Amino acid sequence: MSSTSAKEGISLSTQRLLGKVALVTGGATGIGESIVRLFHKHGAKVCLVDVQDNLGQHVCETLGEPKAFYFHCDVTTEDDVCRAVDFTVDKFGTLDILVNNAGVTGSPCNDIRNADLAEFEKVFDINVKGAFLGMKHAARIMIPQKKGSIVSLCSVASALGGIGPHPYTSSKYALLGLTKNVAAELGLHGIRVNCVSPYAVATNLALAHLPEEERTEDAWTGFRDFVGRNANLQGVELTVDDVANAVLFLASDESRYISGDNLMVDGGFTSVTHSLRVFR
Ligand SMILES: NC(=O)c1ccc[n+]([C@@H]2O[C@H](COP(=O)([O-])OP(=O)(O)OC[C@H]3O[C@@H](n4cnc5c(N)ncnc54)[C@H](O)[C@@H]3O)[C@@H](O)[C@H]2O)c1
Repeated sequence: MSSTSAKEGISLSTQRLLGKVALVTGGATGIGESIVRLFHKHGAKVCLVDVQDNLGQHVCETLGEPKAFYFHCDVTTEDDVCRAVDFTVDKFGTLDILVNNAGVTGSPCNDIRNADLAEFEKVFDINVKGAFLGMKHAARIMIPQKKGSIVSLCSVASALGGIGPHPYTSSKYALLGLTKNVAAELGLHGIRVNCVSPYAVATNLALAHLPEEERTEDAWTGFRDFVGRNANLQGVELTVDDVANAVLFLASDESRYISGDNLMVDGGFTSVTHSLRVFR
């Protein structure tokens, strides 16, 4: 490598999204907040949208230059999503990256006979319809540019049953199907469409699903113990930043030939089972 390209290599690795414009849904807390902060650190101009206005505004206020913007948007409402994309283009001139991160699990329910249809529809509305609307309106901007990267937060529940409530698991399988189908259409225009699928990460969303018998006085400690015990990869705790790093890779040009993929960030959880106790 010449010294010039070595220098370029260094600047690429430190500012991997320099000059790119990104829109992140559900960016006010949890994994989305970490994505916003990491993208910003890597030189991206970021708009974050959420329904938690105070938290979303706060995230933007804590970021320096380039200024990040918050926009109120319920991803289940097409008008909101349309306006969020237009807002981003208005602020920064274009849209290079969309991260469909907003998601909910729905309430725990371990008996299908008691399942609430409205709850099922709500989870699908946010996790699937919300991502679809994001893709639709991002495509408006990306197709004429002949480039772009769309990354959606899926889950280990997109690869295995028995991990979350029925609406959640089925919505994540649907999101993966949607991702592959939209990748099939948008490949023609040079646009990549992928998913990132994490194992359990300590956020408000995940905490609510800790089995009752595992709950301890300090909820977060109980969560970490349970998740660690059931993980494949031992001695490493999955954090929101690990997930954000995977999203950064798929958003950046480093993954320029990857599309239609589901990047598992699960330490091997969905590749192995320890049920037969061969190694444990
Ligand atoms: N935490 C985990 O263990 C885990 C594991 C696998 C996948 N995921 C996925 O990662 C994503 C983020 O999860 P998290 O753990 O950070 O959750 P979180 O609850 O901490 O954050 C989700 C964010 O989405 C926002 N949101 C919810 N409904 C919205 C709507 N209608 N419109 C706009 N924003 C909305 C919330 O206000 C919140 O800020 C989700 O898609 C989730 O399914 C999480």
